Amino acid sequence: MGNLTGKVAFITGAARGQGRSHALRLAAEGAAIIATDICRQLDVPYLMSTRSDLDETARLVSEQGGTILAGEADVRDLAALARAADEGAAAFGGIDIVVANAGICSFDTIDAMDEDKWQTMIDIDLTGVFKTVKATLPHQRDGGSIIITSSTAGLKGYSSLSHYSAAKHGLVGFMRAAAHELGPRGIRVNTIHPTQVPTDMLMNEQTYRMFNPHLDEPTREDFEAASQAGMVMPVPWVETADTSEAVAFLASDAARFITGATLPVDAGAQMK
Ligand SMILES: NC(=O)c1ccc[n+]([C@@H]2O[C@H](COP(=O)([O-])OP(=O)(O)OC[C@H]3O[C@@H](n4cnc5c(N)ncnc54)[C@H](O)[C@@H]3O)[C@@H](O)[C@H]2O)c1
Repeated sequence: MGNLTGKVAFITGAARGQGRSHALRLAAEGAAIIATDICRQLDVPYLMSTRSDLDETARLVSEQGGTILAGEADVRDLAALARAADEGAAAFGGIDIVVANAGICSFDTIDAMDEDKWQTMIDIDLTGVFKTVKATLPHQRDGGSIIITSSTAGLKGYSSLSHYSAAKHGLVGFMRAAAHELGPRGIRVNTIHPTQVPTDMLMNEQTYRMFNPHLDEPTREDFEAASQAGMVMPVPWVETADTSEAVAFLASDAARFITGATLPVDAGAQMK
């Protein structure tokens, strides 16, 4: 612990799930945290986070002795992200680490998907990352690290996920271009590619149904079995602590010459 003492990390989607876990992990390594989240319900078939979730992230970071500034910002709103980055950088002296983690998920076949559903996914899961990087870049210190949360669906295509797969593949192209642009400043840019992670985005009825289309009322146990069938290793999913470990590694000097990499955290799912 203490690998990131003196560093400042800007994290989107930090109210809960993987984003909260990344905030706690990076804070435990000594980084000051600028945490943002939309804290509002969008048209997705699961409950999204609230302001009290973001406040709980702040409380947990503070409780373990960390420093955090938390505020609401939609990753579709460049001005709101810039305000959060400006305030955080003013408070902590700059930004070293950016974790572009915010995202939504939904399912639909191409024939059933309307334009709004497609566009919202692209706006949040792809363009939201561009806006996150753009808003933080003016404060980014040389030698920093940008970590973008893609997905196994950023390396493979899946039925009913054309919008999500397109956005998450798009992040790989964005990451590679950004790694070229920012490499001369010693800023590294990488993507992580988690398989299923048991957060609220995943552990809900829509996912259970997608993984078990032949069942009328699939249960969590049905989902667990179907999910495990997609892994090389004998697990149904990876934990938030596993993706946070990858984020902490890529943020640290241990990864000082790793840039332009697509790092799976997936129990082998992308090989199946
Ligand atoms: N859970 C999985 O199985 C899984 C697998 C692979 C990749 N991912 C990716 O991991 C990331 C984190 O997801 P999670 O599993 O923690 O789910 P989650 O739903 O618990 O967390 C996502 C967070 O992002 C926030 N968010 C959504 N839209 C936003 C917006 N427009 N602006 C700002 N914040 C917004 C939500 O409010 C929420 O707090 C996402 O990018 C997701 O696509 C998840």
